[in-house]
Amino acid sequence: MTGRSAPIITIDGPSGTGKGTLARLITAWLGWHLLDSGALYRVTAQFALARGVALDDADGIAALAAQLPVEFVEGEGDTRVLLESQDVTDLIRSEEAGARASQVAALGPVRAALLDRQHAFAQAPGLVADGRDMGTVVFPAADLKIYLTASVEERARRRYKQLNEKGMGVNLPQLLGDIAERDRRDEQRSISPLKPATDAIILDTTDSDIAAVVLHVKRLVREAGLASGATS
Ligand code: DC
Repeated sequence: MTGRSAPIITIDGPSGTGKGTLARLITAWLGWHLLDSGALYRVTAQFALARGVALDDADGIAALAAQLPVEFVEGEGDTRVLLESQDVTDLIRSEEAGARASQVAALGPVRAALLDRQHAFAQAPGLVADGRDMGTVVFPAADLKIYLTASVEERARRRYKQLNEKGMGVNLPQLLGDIAERDRRDEQRSISPLKPATDAIILDTTDSDIAAVVLHVKRLVREAGLASGATS
């Protein structure tokens, strides 16, 4: 463990790498807390939309982010996200909501406004933090840093399958273009760009299913001496 009050595992990478699923499964296995930082950016963008604040109004959105009336409520097998007590879980999961989140996430004042809230998730017995800059900026002293990658084609295929299963009509070539565009924006922004921490372990999941990735990460967690509270 570092000098922090709780051990921290960061899981970063672009969307469609299996990051969210991996983070949920590792969190459940360890009995730790989970920070889905992408949800904070998605909710911030949703709040801006609801309040009629333009997505490029950095100070206006930062003011909303600093007071974000968001709650994460553990449901059966998932976490429900409430904004001003309204369940926005499904609303913020759309591709459009992801693109809007990526836009507000490029604004420095918005990122700064969300920093304390993210740090507050670091509580005993431990935290698994899922995002883009968890290992580089938000928790640079984390005990274990994982960075997941996969080819953009494979990530688009996974997302396509996921959206189809939810009954959301999507077009694969368009999805591929949208994901590439979001990668570009997340990687090229000047503040907290998407990139692996120098001490992150990089796992390419293009040819691995999630079960194999989970096994691999469980091994890394054990090797890091962080699995004392694990269920098996
Ligand atoms: O992980 P996600 O798809 O829910 O994230 C949505 C957007 O939020 C993503 O395109 C970039 C942004 N994001 C970020 O900039 N930093 C994070 N730590 C998490 C997400």
